[in-house]
This record gives sequence, structure tokens and C-alpha cells, in this order.
Amino acid sequence: MSSSTQDSPTSYGSVSRFNHWLGALLVLALLAIGLYFEDMPKGDARKFWRGLHIAIGAFASLFLLWRVYWRVRSTSPLALPQQPALQKFAQVVHVLLLVGIAVLAITGPLIIWSTGRAIPVFDLLSIPSPFPEFRALHEPLEEVHGFTADAMLFLIGFHLLGVIKHQFIDRDGILKRMSGRA
Ligand code: HEM
Ligand code: HEM
Repeated sequence: MSSSTQDSPTSYGSVSRFNHWLGALLVLALLAIGLYFEDMPKGDARKFWRGLHIAIGAFASLFLLWRVYWRVRSTSPLALPQQPALQKFAQVVHVLLLVGIAVLAITGPLIIWSTGRAIPVFDLLSIPSPFPEFRALHEPLEEVHGFTADAMLFLIGFHLLGVIKHQFIDRDGILKRMSGRA
């Protein structure tokens, strides 16, 4: 039943798999670009990378919110058997990853809209703010966005260690569950 669009007790369905891999790609790309331009001096290079982050982020934010919504309303596969404390930890990391994705997808656009400006997608398009200016929240939003991005580094690190442990030590076929070959 690996071709089903829905999750089964033993495997992720096609929608969840597509969401996971595209979501992972977008989050890793945005994280890399964000961490790269964060410490750059003001100037054209910083402007370019910040602009790229925002342009990708503008599309990514809608997809990522949908991705989290789909996970929340799907019945996920049963957790793989392992030591109970690790099983709990894996579930907590998954929930925190999803919370992190949602927080980044929401605070990102709000950082820009808080100043009353539209979100620029290169020179192609700009997405005007649906809200009146709320400048007082600009810096807090930036801080939450930056803190959450840093936290994602740790969470993704734990996530990958877990996948490696399952794949190579437990040999329980964890990657197959997320690639439609289970
Ligand atoms: C690129 C390397 C990655 C690999 C190899 C990988 C692999 C996996 C696998 C095999 C699962 C299924 C776990 C299970 O069966 O219980 C999973 C689930 C999950 N992964 Fe990843 N992952 C990667 C990157 C990421 C990134 C960057 C994020 C965060 C944005 C992420 C977020 C999640 C979440 C939230 C789940 C829970 C199920 C879901 O909602 O999709 N993963 N991952
Ligand atoms: C979902 C994954 C995302 C990750 C991992 C991520 C990561 C980062 C990082 C590491 C920074 C630099 C730290 C900082 O200056 O605060 C940053 C800044 C920024 N991000 Fe994101 N981001 C994501 C999504 C978005 C989205 C969807 C948008 C909306 C368009 C966005 C807009 C911004 C803006 C405007 C800044 C610059 C803040 C400043 O000038 O200081 N981000 N992001």
C-alpha cells in the first residue's frame, strides 16, 4: 500500500513523503542562507542573500504551513520500537521540529510586514501587508525568528542522529518508511 496518499500504520503516504522532503529541502536552504547573511556587513552581497532568503521564504511559508497542517490532521505511522525513553524523545523532537517550522513560516513574513512594507520577491512581485504597520513587534519578531532558526540546528542534528541510529544500528528500515518502499 506504499502508493497510498494517506499514512498507514507502517509507512508515510505519498503526500506526507512529498511534504517531508520538500519541507526539509526548503528549511535547510533557508537555514543555510539565513545563517550566511546574518553576520555579513551591510552591502550588496548581504542584500542579495537576504533578498534570496525572502523570495524563497515567501513561497516556502505557505507550503510549510500546509505541511504542518497536514501532519497535525494525519494519523502518523506507529513509532518504531526502541527504548521507551528514546521513543518519547523522538516524538518530542518531531513535535518541536513542526512547531519550529510553523514559527519560522509565521514570523518570517511578519518581520517585513511589521514595518508596513510589502514582501519583495526579487523584482518580480511584491506581496503587500494585510495589516496596518505594527513596528513595535519588529525586533521581537526578528529575535524569535533568529532564536527558532538556531534551535532548528540542534533539532535537525538530533533528528539526523536518530535516523542514522535507526538505519544502521537498529536496521529497522526507517528510510523506507519515508521513501515509499516500505
Ligand atoms: C535531509 C535529511 C533528513 C532525513 C534523512 C530525514 C529522514 C526522516 C525519516 C526517515 C523520518 C521518518 C521517521 C519515522 O519513521 O518515525 C522523518 C520524519 C520527520 N522529519 Fe526528517 N529527515 C531529514 C531532514 C529533516 C528536516 C530538515 C526536517 C525539518 C524541517 C525534518 C522534519 C521531520 C519531521 C517533522 C518528521 C515527522 C514526520 C513528518 O511530519 O514528516 N526532517 N525524517
Ligand atoms: C522556514 C525556515 C526558515 C529558516 C530556517 C530561516 C532562518 C533565518 C535565519 C538563520 C536568519 C538570520 C537571523 C536573523 O537575522 O534573525 C533569518 C532572517 C530572516 N528571515 Fe528567515 N528563515 C526561514 C523562513 C523565513 C520566511 C518564510 C521568511 C519570509 C519571507 C523569512 C524572512 C526573514 C527575514 C526578513 C530575515 C531578516 C531579518 C533581519 O534582517 O535581521 N524567513 N532567517
